Amino acid sequence: MYYQNKVVWITGASSGIGEALAYALNKKGARLILSARREQELERVKKNCSGNPEDILVLPLDLTESDLFSEKTAEAKTHFGGVDILINNGGISQRAYALEADMASIRHLMEINFFGAIALTKAVVPAMIERGHGHVVVISSVMGKFGTRYRSAYAASKHALHGWFDCLRQEVQKDGIDVSIVCPGYVKTNVTKNALKADGTKLNEMGDAHKKAMSPDEFAEKLLPKLSAGKQEIYIGGKEIAAVYLKRFFPKLLNKILMRSKVT
Ligand SMILES: NC(=O)c1ccc[n+]([C@@H]2O[C@H](COP(=O)([O-])OP(=O)(O)OC[C@H]3O[C@@H](n4cnc5c(N)ncnc54)[C@H](OP(=O)(O)O)[C@@H]3O)[C@@H](O)[C@H]2O)c1
Repeated sequence: MYYQNKVVWITGASSGIGEALAYALNKKGARLILSARREQELERVKKNCSGNPEDILVLPLDLTESDLFSEKTAEAKTHFGGVDILINNGGISQRAYALEADMASIRHLMEINFFGAIALTKAVVPAMIERGHGHVVVISSVMGKFGTRYRSAYAASKHALHGWFDCLRQEVQKDGIDVSIVCPGYVKTNVTKNALKADGTKLNEMGDAHKKAMSPDEFAEKLLPKLSAGKQEIYIGGKEIAAVYLKRFFPKLLNKILMRSKVT
């Protein structure tokens, strides 16, 4: 019942985890706002959903264009009256050594993964506070809990989300706002294909671990009950989730294990 008739705004809804969340939430009777840059892909996702087309608003946005977010938030309000759940999911990764990645590529990734997510949250939450309820979700990663070779900017952007959203939770809990941070392990999406190389161009390759990973639909099915239970930090994945606990209790051991493992 948690999702029935709720208005859920999902960024990165044009593919992967965001698309799967759209279908899972549509099945649970939620009304949806679908955002990403590619409008045609968002329309495709909308078409694949069932029910009244008025219950799904396609609202294209680029997470690097935060000056437009108050306008986008107003459009969402005009259509639905308010947003109950915001899922900050849109993001990109990088595969590059820390000392080789161009500063421009690092700044671009931070603009999408960190500044985009917090700017949209800042645009949406005040109206949630006025209404006395709301749920803000951010899709981080296990890379938000520890680091490995070749993912420095990505891990930094995800760690930054934990800092910002943990603080936000403390500030808005009294206003009836929940904040959940989600840390997926490997999920079979185009995230590595879309990852940036050191020079900022697209990698265009699917990583080995991602080829064998859980489907985005399975991920979405596992995530929704945890969100509706009000969990504050959520880990979903395969054996890579153990690394989160190793980092907490045996950080040197994790470092040793990661140094021996193949990182692609
Ligand atoms: N797959 C995994 O193994 C995994 C693991 C941990 C965390 N995650 C996180 O899960 C989230 C979703 O990724 P995914 O795996 O589903 O990858 P994906 O299939 O590549 O999806 C990424 C989504 O982000 C959107 N996006 C990218 N740049 C954007 C921008 N500038 N403005 C607006 N939207 C933008 C893309 O849409 P457009 O191209 O249409 O804009 C797309 O819908 C990301 O935050 C990622 O870091 C994924």
